[in-house]
Amino acid sequence: MAELAPSILAADFNRLGEQIKEVGNTGTRYLHIDVMDGLFVPSISFGMPLIESIRKESGMFFDVHLMINEPARYLDEFAKAGADGITVHKEACASLKETLTGINKLGLKPSVSINPETPVQEIEDVLDMVYMVLVMSVHPGFGGQKFIPSSLEKVRWLKEKREEKGLSYKIEIDGGVNKNNIAEIAGNGVDVIVAGTAVFNGNITGNINTLKEVL
Ligand code: DX5
Ligand code: ZN
Repeated sequence: MAELAPSILAADFNRLGEQIKEVGNTGTRYLHIDVMDGLFVPSISFGMPLIESIRKESGMFFDVHLMINEPARYLDEFAKAGADGITVHKEACASLKETLTGINKLGLKPSVSINPETPVQEIEDVLDMVYMVLVMSVHPGFGGQKFIPSSLEKVRWLKEKREEKGLSYKIEIDGGVNKNNIAEIAGNGVDVIVAGTAVFNGNITGNINTLKEVL
C-alpha cells in the first residue's frame, strides 16, 4: 500500500506548526520537506532553522528533499536539524556515491532523486545504496505544477530493477499529484506519494482522507 508524504512547501507558514500537527493527527507517517537554494532550482524555500523548529513537536519521518547544489556541504547540518532521511539530486552531486555514503554514515536514510529530463538508467549504479528513489514528476522548484505522465515509465523501470536485483528501495514520486491522478499513480507501484497543494489547499484533514481513500 502506498503512503502519502505531504509537502510543507504548500503550507501556510504563518500556521505551520498547527498544520503539521493536523497532518500528524491523520496518522500520516512521512512529512516531505523541500529545501531550495536558488541555484539548483530558481526558487529559495527554507533551511535548517525551520526544520529544527518543527522537529521539536513532530515525531513524523522528516523526508528532507534537498534541491541544492553540492548537498554534501550541508549533510551534517541537516542531520543536526532533525532530518530522518535526506534525498539528494543526481544532477547536483559531483560524487553521488560519496554523498549517499555520507548520509548513511550520519545514521540517516539516503535517497536519490532525478529530474524529469534525466534518464532513470543513470542511477542504476546506486540503487543498492538507497532507501528511496524519488522520481520528479514536475520540474523541481515550485509547487502547483502539472504532473508529467512519462515519469510513470521510470517508476515501472525502477519496480522491475528492484525485482531483478532483489533490492528493497522505495519508489517515491513528487509533483502534480491530486485526487484525480493519485489512483493511477499508486497503481503503477509507487510506494511514497508526495503531495503539496492537494493536501494544504483547503481542509487538510479532508484532503488527506480523500487522497488516502484510493491508496
Ligand atoms: C517541487 C517540490 C515538491 C512540491 C510538490 O520542487 O519538490 O515537493 O512541493 O508540490 P505539488 O504537490 O503542489 O505539485
Ligand atoms: Zn519535493
